[in-house]
Amino acid sequence: MTDWDGHVDEPSPVSALAEPAERDDESTLRPRRLAEFVGQPRVREQLELVLRGAQLRGQPPDHVLLSGPPGLGKTSLSMIIAAELGSAIRITSGPALERAGDLAAMLSNLVEGDVLFIDEIHRIARPAEEMLYLAMEDFRVDVVVGKGPGATSIPLDIAPFTLVGATTRSGSLTGPLRDRFGFTGHMEFYSTEELDQVLRRSAVILGIDLSRDGAAEIARRSRGTPRIANRLLRRVRDYAEVRADGVVTRPVARAALEVYDVDELGLDRLDRAVLDALVRTFGGGPVGVATLAVAVGEEPTTVEEVCEPFLVRAGLLARTPRGRVATATGWQRLGLTPPPQAPGEPAASR
Ligand SMILES: Nc1ncnc2c1ncn2[C@@H]1O[C@H](COP(=O)(O)OP(=O)(O)O)[C@@H](O)[C@H]1O
Ligand SMILES: [Mg+2]
Repeated sequence: MTDWDGHVDEPSPVSALAEPAERDDESTLRPRRLAEFVGQPRVREQLELVLRGAQLRGQPPDHVLLSGPPGLGKTSLSMIIAAELGSAIRITSGPALERAGDLAAMLSNLVEGDVLFIDEIHRIARPAEEMLYLAMEDFRVDVVVGKGPGATSIPLDIAPFTLVGATTRSGSLTGPLRDRFGFTGHMEFYSTEELDQVLRRSAVILGIDLSRDGAAEIARRSRGTPRIANRLLRRVRDYAEVRADGVVTRPVARAALEVYDVDELGLDRLDRAVLDALVRTFGGGPVGVATLAVAVGEEPTTVEEVCEPFLVRAGLLARTPRGRVATATGWQRLGLTPPPQAPGEPAASR
């Protein structure tokens, strides 16, 4: 057993948009052990083998990459990896590692068996990334001393550690970096039943009186995402306490979610704005994601990493080599008749 709480500064890699109180909730609600982690049966099984195998051999496990849309549990799982190993975790992020020196400092402070968590690892700057190659492969860094022709590089050993990287876009990782991970866990959207479990667990922790059908209603509208399920639970609790008797029943959940503009499918305003722009402004596409983002006044990365994966999964939008297109279901969702050439349910969507 570890007192890994002692090593961890409750992490900053929580949604930056969350209110401070909600950020506290987010860490309260974080599952702490693998057994507590709901869903993702494949990733969980694979990871369990990686961890136990390494433990049997008495070595730090191979480096692990976790990829998937925001809010699916990548940060939670990274912390669980450390907890299961009984190791300390050091937390940083790609954007924070602008200078290779920052990474060198972090690496040279590692203790054998530590877990180094790099969130948003696809945003790491090139020099730091190159330093990481050698660190991951040989547990070594080359520290450059001096400048210009007189500069020399001094090799420095670092303690064997396990890198855990998280990314919302594994596609933009360079080949060499991706190749150095011994295991990649692909996080999938959660089923309604799994979100139901997440919600009931959260309700117990937060002391919310949540009925069975109230939980089912919130689960259905949570875009397959635990972070969203927990957020909606908090909003519905507000409504239940202010306008009802505090119990989260189905009618209370429905009324509350209407106030917060969350529709039957779980689409929020931005999701609907994207679909609406795609269909009404761009005639159903194809249109590039940057153009689509300008039309809704959002960053292209937000549209691409937050909205699109769910719209694709809901069968409303398809990504094609020529750009984004609305599916027939997407048109119908807006109450419009699709043009004859609109793609049907894309075979890949689930
Ligand atoms: N499998 C899970 N079981 C229970 N709660 C989860 C699970 N995955 C995520 N959560 C909840 O969602 C929140 C966000 O998860 P997080 O790990 O920060 O996602 P990511 O890093 O992928 O954006 C967590 O604080 C936790 O409350
Ligand atoms: Mg995270």
